Amino acid sequence: MTNKQTLRAGVLGCGEIGRRGHIPGFQAAGIDVVAVCDANLARAQSVAKELHVPRAYADYKELLADPDIDVVSVGLPNFLHAPVSIAALEAGKHVMCEKPFATSAALAEEMIATSQRTGKLLSINQHMRFEGTSRAMREAVVEGRFGKVYLADVRMIRSTGIPGFGSWFTNKDMAGAGALYDIGVHMLDLAMFLLGFPKVGAVRGMLSSALGEQKIGLGGWGIDRGTAGRYDVDDTAIANIALADGGLIRLVVTWAAFGSSEERVTLFGTRGGADRSPDKYGRDTPLRFYQEHNGAMETVIPDTSRYPGAGTSASIASFIAAIRGEGPLMVKPEEALQTTRILELIQQSATQGREIAA
Ligand SMILES: NC(=O)c1ccc[n+]([C@@H]2O[C@H](COP(=O)([O-])OP(=O)(O)OC[C@H]3O[C@@H](n4cnc5c(N)ncnc54)[C@H](O)[C@@H]3O)[C@@H](O)[C@H]2O)c1
Repeated sequence: MTNKQTLRAGVLGCGEIGRRGHIPGFQAAGIDVVAVCDANLARAQSVAKELHVPRAYADYKELLADPDIDVVSVGLPNFLHAPVSIAALEAGKHVMCEKPFATSAALAEEMIATSQRTGKLLSINQHMRFEGTSRAMREAVVEGRFGKVYLADVRMIRSTGIPGFGSWFTNKDMAGAGALYDIGVHMLDLAMFLLGFPKVGAVRGMLSSALGEQKIGLGGWGIDRGTAGRYDVDDTAIANIALADGGLIRLVVTWAAFGSSEERVTLFGTRGGADRSPDKYGRDTPLRFYQEHNGAMETVIPDTSRYPGAGTSASIASFIAAIRGEGPLMVKPEEALQTTRILELIQQSATQGREIAA
């Protein structure tokens, strides 16, 4: 357990998530951010000044050598998640890594082994799990309220959602994948969390890059962008993930759709179901439960107000509590490894054009 007064953070990456999510998240949890790092030193210095962080580094190794730092966040391009997290764990820091956890299951395994060997905690910012709607749905599944859930249908549709066109986001060597890793990982993690990380039987995936290649659907996220750079990642990912218990996860995500944006999670069970759709039901009460009542279908609007907090701040606060021994590690790296394996199978299936057994 670490003393509450002495826990200090360092933030690796001063792009969008570092500046908007990690630094404010640590500060909201009462943790001093004592250093930031970005390869673009001017960016690191300007973010440090804006958010009252005393030190700014260009090289992550310098930040990791800082003995004042107990915990770091990794908000860097995807290909750096594994090497930088491993270096941080080796340097004796607890690590909150951004999603996608790693660009391969082998790297994810190495990260977990390093966390186990060093005794430092490792978690991933899968913040959608912390939303009240997610927790209410998970609780209902555990209680058996929906019977056996045989289908989890998850989708995130964006019409102008390609981040950082021409930057690392759309360069396969640096991103690993496009929409699949950017938003697919969120929806897949959520589906797996809701179902209790079930065993997977087989995966059929499809990836498409047809819209992004035409520069259709460019969005505003990502601090660096430019239309001259590479685009060799998927903008759309679709998968059927057959579960060993006979159930199915159906995943549809896209950065660039000819259609309206939508974010939806639907659970179909043998005795009831759930539907989370801010687009259909409104942001105030986005969740509906459906169940049988006196031979008819009853609709319930669950109270999700007892789960306060959401987003990256909730995820960081929970990680800090786990470091202090005040709560469980809510996003376990072993769960993220399972998700990483499925993401690999989706890509293999898409390349080979056939279903792949897990
Ligand atoms: N959990 C979420 O909802 C969420 C949301 C957004 C981004 N992310 C993740 O966070 C990560 C960063 O995304 P972003 O949107 O902030 O990207 P970004 O492009 O806005 O920022 C990345 C930053 O990393 C810096 N950088 C690149 N290489 C570096 C190096 N070797 N050393 C130090 N700094 C380096 C860049 O200069 C840039 O400032 C990605 O993995 C992304 O998937 C997660």
